[in-house]
Amino acid sequence: MDFFAYKNNKLYCEDVDLQDIAMECGTPCYVYSKKTLERHVEVYKNAFKTKNNLICFSVKSLSNISILELINKNGCGFDVVSGGELKRTLYIGADPKKIIFSGVGKSYDEILLGIQEGILSFNVESEAEVYRIEEIASLQNKIVDVAIRFNPEVDSGGHEYIKTGRKGDKFGISSDDSVLKIANYIYESKNLNLVGLACHIGSQIMDLESYRLTAKNIKELSIKIKEIGNKLDFLDLGGGLGIPYENDKTPSPQDLISIIEAELMDVEQRIVLEPGRSISGNAGVLLTKVEYIKDNFLIADAAMNDLLRPALYKAKHDVWSLTESKAIDQVWTIVGPVCESADVIAKDHPINADVGDILAIKTAGAYGFVMSSNYNSRVRPAEILVDGQTFNIVRSRESFDDLIKNEINLND
Ligand SMILES: Cc1ncc(COP(=O)(O)O)c(C=O)c1O
Repeated sequence: MDFFAYKNNKLYCEDVDLQDIAMECGTPCYVYSKKTLERHVEVYKNAFKTKNNLICFSVKSLSNISILELINKNGCGFDVVSGGELKRTLYIGADPKKIIFSGVGKSYDEILLGIQEGILSFNVESEAEVYRIEEIASLQNKIVDVAIRFNPEVDSGGHEYIKTGRKGDKFGISSDDSVLKIANYIYESKNLNLVGLACHIGSQIMDLESYRLTAKNIKELSIKIKEIGNKLDFLDLGGGLGIPYENDKTPSPQDLISIIEAELMDVEQRIVLEPGRSISGNAGVLLTKVEYIKDNFLIADAAMNDLLRPALYKAKHDVWSLTESKAIDQVWTIVGPVCESADVIAKDHPINADVGDILAIKTAGAYGFVMSSNYNSRVRPAEILVDGQTFNIVRSRESFDDLIKNEINLND
């Protein structure tokens, strides 16, 4: 559920008319709803029947520091995949003991930072990474907590680019034998402590059966790991729950958690989840203005550099006019100004619109701003957070100075 809705024919975010934001902050801009973010966190937290579980919000889906602070205040931990994301969470005062560091290519410096800060766990994705963490831990004279990310061999559906849990995917460790060998190695290590078993089977998952199978696999593997002597603190089932991009029916966090809890009923470890999209996705829209009309095209001022998902994954986003129409009698292909044929926001989309109108690209909170770029020397859009009747800019629109600030003109 989200807090974007028409009131008296005008599209509101909570109690703010989105037209007012567009007028004051310009377009394109991302608008997030505080209430929606808070509600999604609450739904996740309240869905657990068992106590002492942990929701680690996936920072990669939406990483603005104001949003992270809000999510932190609401009791979540964080799943990070880079030193930059780790620094964001530390910057907003997150408890390191609620931070999980995932990712296949953690650098020496990133590991060092995580060790110095005493994070909950490095979710290791290869044998080589285990050796690297051990070496740094030994140099630092520390015992470092790690979890093994394995691939449960579950094909979760969805776009090829967002599947991650199959043998042969670049993420995680693919064979149970390798997992057990690594668990054995960690057990023997003076500088490593195995605290968890983790997996993440993909994103935009609609079929909860994949999670049931994953929970079954993680439980079986955790029993084998326990036999080695490691005492696991948590089982981490990653993120991935799908959300409605086109009004489709999607499973809820409650559905997800009840399936996982049923499968893991008798395990002693706490359950960790790393949701991203299902918390941030429909908490955000991207506002864009129609600049031109040509043939059947609405040419808008937002482009693939602002919202990459349609071009990258052929992802679909619903697009709403800020003024509600009783009947829609027009169909448009909405495109942006970037010089790529892939720069299509929505194809053959029914919407009444004219030049100068503002449109809201829905469900753009996750993997929206975070994937934006300066392609075509376009400045990145502003980000705005709505809270009831008020709104604040939480990231200013970039300027030309921002665009060139790291460039060096050799002729100067
Ligand atoms: C390790 C890991 N955890 C969590 C997530 C969040 O996934 P989602 O946003 O689909 O919930 C991702 C996303 O790719 C991921 O790679």
